[in-house]
Amino acid sequence: MGAKKTCDPAGVRPADVPFPTTRLRRLRRTEAVRALVREASLAPADLVYPLFVCEGRGVRREIPSMPGQFHCSVDRLVEEAAEAHERGVPAVLLFGLPDRKDALGSEAWGDEGIIARAVRALKEALPDLLVLTDVCLRQYTDHGHCGVLDGTDVENDRTLELLAKTAVRQASAGADFVAPSDMMDGRVGAIRRALDEAGFQGVSILSYAAKYASAFYGPFRDAAASAPRFGDRRSYQMDPANSQEALREVALDLEEGADIVMVKPALPYLDIVRRVKDRFGVPVAAYQVSGEYAMLVAAAERNMIDRERAILETLVSIRRAGADLIFTYFASEAARLLRG
Ligand code: PBG
Repeated sequence: MGAKKTCDPAGVRPADVPFPTTRLRRLRRTEAVRALVREASLAPADLVYPLFVCEGRGVRREIPSMPGQFHCSVDRLVEEAAEAHERGVPAVLLFGLPDRKDALGSEAWGDEGIIARAVRALKEALPDLLVLTDVCLRQYTDHGHCGVLDGTDVENDRTLELLAKTAVRQASAGADFVAPSDMMDGRVGAIRRALDEAGFQGVSILSYAAKYASAFYGPFRDAAASAPRFGDRRSYQMDPANSQEALREVALDLEEGADIVMVKPALPYLDIVRRVKDRFGVPVAAYQVSGEYAMLVAAAERNMIDRERAILETLVSIRRAGADLIFTYFASEAARLLRG
């Protein structure tokens, strides 16, 4: 073979000039060199911190299935968010834990719900913090399903009306983004229309576009007391074996007006993150969910893995796969680690 050097920008062909001329270890020699050629970046600015808000005052109760995460009343929520924001986390996602549940989830869309109060308090104390709100009825219904029931079936189209009402409530309280997580067909369009009609053209929609029916939501369901009373969510969440379908879900949500699309969970679905990013080129979010969090915490507690390294490794993997932003319960801790 001659000494002809070829430059392959895609980097997919083996180098023409083999060892000993090519030594990939040269670029791994020191941290300074590694940093110079590092491909994916991870910064606090990429992270969104999910928080749970409950009724009461001065409440900060650890969630048993998610050690290190808390149910906070509005006053303590503000403190939690302020600390993360100080470390550089730009955004929080709120989940409400209402005291009262009913068949239609009226605490979600009625006056003065827990989320509306929490959003207002956060915006007042931390005007630069972005506040995202979860749009889903499940924590608010006594049956634990995401919408209006007809017998044992979740009625898609009647649920849309209530979701749209919920989103408008949240926007009028000051939410910057609404994040529909229910997987009803047509919800993004219904929410966009309702927001626009109510004068909230500037409020964005981050849709849980590819949400899989996953075992990794287990700890969250304990945390939010939202396990369904009967049945499961496989009739509206996606089959873990499918990826073409994820692209269809994303395409529909974008057509209906989603500004950012999310893939959830994150680690078991990194291939989906990459395909969505490559195919659509829009901002993509990934959600490192409660089960992913709990696994790392549990393994680290037993000294099976190094907690800090594992946190940062999973987060940078999600960025490498193509996610622009990451929802993670490690947001505040990771931001502290990243700042050194
Ligand atoms: C729905 C919602 C869920 C999660 C985020 N939004 C629960 C579910 O689908 O059961 C799960 C997040 C997690 O597991 O961390 N409101």
